Amino acid sequence: MSAASPLPPLALGSLRMDMPVVQAALSGYSDLAMRTVARAHGAPYALNEVVLDELVLQKGRLQRRILSVPEHDHPVGGQLMGSQPERFGQAARELVKAGYDVVDLNFGCPVNKVLGRRRGGWLLQDPETALAMIDAVLQAVAGDAPVTVKLRRGSDDSPDAEARFWTILDGAIARGITAATVHPRTVAQKYVGPSRWPFLTKVKQHVGAFPILGSGDLFSPFDVLAMLRETGVNGVTVARGCIGNPFVFTQVRELLAGRAAMRPTAAAQRAALHQHWQIAVPFYGSERHALPHARMHAIKFGQYHKDPVWARERLVRMRGPEFLPLVDEVFADCHDEGRSLQLRPEDAIVPALQSCSE
Ligand SMILES: Cc1cc2nc3c(=O)[nH]c(=O)nc-3n(C[C@H](O)[C@H](O)[C@H](O)COP(=O)(O)O)c2cc1C
Repeated sequence: MSAASPLPPLALGSLRMDMPVVQAALSGYSDLAMRTVARAHGAPYALNEVVLDELVLQKGRLQRRILSVPEHDHPVGGQLMGSQPERFGQAARELVKAGYDVVDLNFGCPVNKVLGRRRGGWLLQDPETALAMIDAVLQAVAGDAPVTVKLRRGSDDSPDAEARFWTILDGAIARGITAATVHPRTVAQKYVGPSRWPFLTKVKQHVGAFPILGSGDLFSPFDVLAMLRETGVNGVTVARGCIGNPFVFTQVRELLAGRAAMRPTAAAQRAALHQHWQIAVPFYGSERHALPHARMHAIKFGQYHKDPVWARERLVRMRGPEFLPLVDEVFADCHDEGRSLQLRPEDAIVPALQSCSE
């Protein structure tokens, strides 16, 4: 596959993505505003941040927010975390009723609090429960939406953990899931050390034509094409590489069209953050409530600024209603002066993982 050759589209059941490069589920980040901006910059599919099945089922403001899927937010995946098959199934049904196009099940989250409650990555230790949860969801969704699963490559590096991974993946496929996303780090590994891409090749060889999406260490459009080329996965989910950088989707499209990938101009960054703010304010109910979320994104945009240290200093001190004026100041046109906008592989930014609430 040369950079300029087209990629086969990605199919999740009857959903067709024109490019197999999608926005990952990102806890604390991939809300409606982030997804909208990612779509505006070429993401053909985006996942909501993981939500607890109990929160989907509990009446209240959070439930209303989770279950509000506006018309412009499609196709969208709703990702669930939980530990009780029955509650998992009920929550999955609610997501479909609310308009989510895909239900994704989280069997990968490595956060200690989550593991302690036998959710997320913990389920990789217990194939029987993991498969019972998949059964419950498939039954509740009853074919009304594709069901997909997100896994890490095991709970740890032991052969037993790998054997459990295959039991869960094979069992899930046999039961009728539509696709799986594999992040080839172990749960114990959290984010230390690289994502083991050769494991994705092994998964693809194992499952044949069954659709697999790869995850891990995708920090530039060059990484995206390299994972697709090297591992044979059917698609990829961009995670840390698109926080503060929705432009990565356009950059992949540019490379696929045989053109150079360009960094965003300051004007493009400003416009994306304005769009983010316009969606975030009504979504969170007020400027005050939207600000902590939008500020976090603005700080991440700052990593791609010509002077990232200065940009961060300005943005972390942001308070109150001055979001847009400060964005306009930090991402002013003058910051493009003297800067080449052509992106090279060596320019990829490996973002610091300050916090992961995955
Ligand atoms: C801040 C943060 C939040 C995340 N939240 C989720 C989540 O809600 N659901 C999920 O399946 N994975 C989540 N992940 C994992 C990513 O989707 C992805 O699998 C992982 O970051 C590896 O990709 P990367 O190395 O390219 O970032 C999260 C990762 C980060 C850094």
